[in-house]
Amino acid sequence: MNVAQGGVPAYFFVNGRWLPPEQAVVPVEDRGYQLGDGVYEVIRVYGGRPFALDRHLERLVRSAEAIQLRLPLELVELAAIVEEAPRRRGLVEAQVYLQVTRGVAARVHHFPAEAAPSLVVYASPVRAVDPRLYEEGAAAVVLPDQRWLRCDIKSINLLPNALAKEEARRQGALEAVLERAGVGVTEGASSNLFIVQEGTLVTAPPGPYILRGVTRDLVIEQARAAGVPVEERFFSRAELLAADEAFLTSTTMEVMPLVRVDGQTIGRGTPGAVTQRLHRALRDVIVSAGAGSAAVRSTQTGPAG
Ligand code: PDD
Repeated sequence: MNVAQGGVPAYFFVNGRWLPPEQAVVPVEDRGYQLGDGVYEVIRVYGGRPFALDRHLERLVRSAEAIQLRLPLELVELAAIVEEAPRRRGLVEAQVYLQVTRGVAARVHHFPAEAAPSLVVYASPVRAVDPRLYEEGAAAVVLPDQRWLRCDIKSINLLPNALAKEEARRQGALEAVLERAGVGVTEGASSNLFIVQEGTLVTAPPGPYILRGVTRDLVIEQARAAGVPVEERFFSRAELLAADEAFLTSTTMEVMPLVRVDGQTIGRGTPGAVTQRLHRALRDVIVSAGAGSAAVRSTQTGPAG
C-alpha cells in the first residue's frame, strides 16, 4: 500500500495527489460544497477490478456535458485512478466514489470564469448488506418523488434522495420507491425498479425521470439475451403492488428482490424466479468480466443503497 509521510495510508485522490484522510479536505468555496455543482459515479470493484468501468465513465461524460462541466482529465487517466484507488487502500472488494465539481471560486450562482474543476476519487470497503435480504427479499415504501426534472444527470444534489431514504429507514424499509404524479413509480432513491408481469420484465424508460443505471442496462441486456420480453414503460404503484415479482438494481446491491411494498406482499412474498435468474445472469457477467471469479460467486455483499 502506498503511504504518505509518517506512514499514514494516502488513498484519497484530490486534484492530482493521493492524500491521507486528514489532508483530503475540500475548500469551503468549492462549488460542490456550496451549490451542489457537480456530478459523480459509484463503481463496484470485484476481486480488485472495477466492474463496467467504461459504462460508468460514459455516463460521467454525459452527466458532465449536461451541466456544461469540463472533465479535468482524459478518460484513460480517470480509469487509471479508479483502478489505483482500491489498491491504495489495500481493498479487493470495494466501491469507488468519483466526483467532479466546478471547482473553487468566490460564491456566485453563475459559472465563475476562473474556476478549474475539482476531482476526488477514493475507494471504500463494501458495506455488507444482510445476505438474508437476497434470500428472503427486501421491503420498500412508496414516497413522492420530490426531485428535479433532470434525474438522468448523476448530480451530487441528493437531498431529496437522502430525505426519502431516511423516511424509508424510519419505516423499516430498505428502499424508497419514488412516485411522480402523472407518471408512475419511476425508480428507487438510489436504485432502479423492475417488475415482472406475466413473464414480461417492465421498467421505466430512460429519460428525465430516472437515472439510467449501469446495472439496469446490464439486466435488460441479460433478460433479452435469455428471451425474457422487456418493456421500457412507466407503471403505477397499483401495478407494482399487483406484480408477480419486483426487484431493485444498483451497482452496490446488484439485483435485490422486493417482497413487500407499503406493507403489502408482492407475488408470493419470496424472491421470484425471474428475479433470481437475472441476478445469476448478472453475476455471470461480473465473473466473465474477470472481476473476482470464484470469490464473486461466493460473496453476496453490498451496501444498503
Ligand atoms: N446509486 N437511480 C438512482 C437515483 C441512483 O442513485 C442509482 C445508483 C441508480 C442505479 O444506477 P447504477 O446501476 O448505475 O448504480 C439508479 C449509486 C449506487 C449511489 O448513489 O450510491
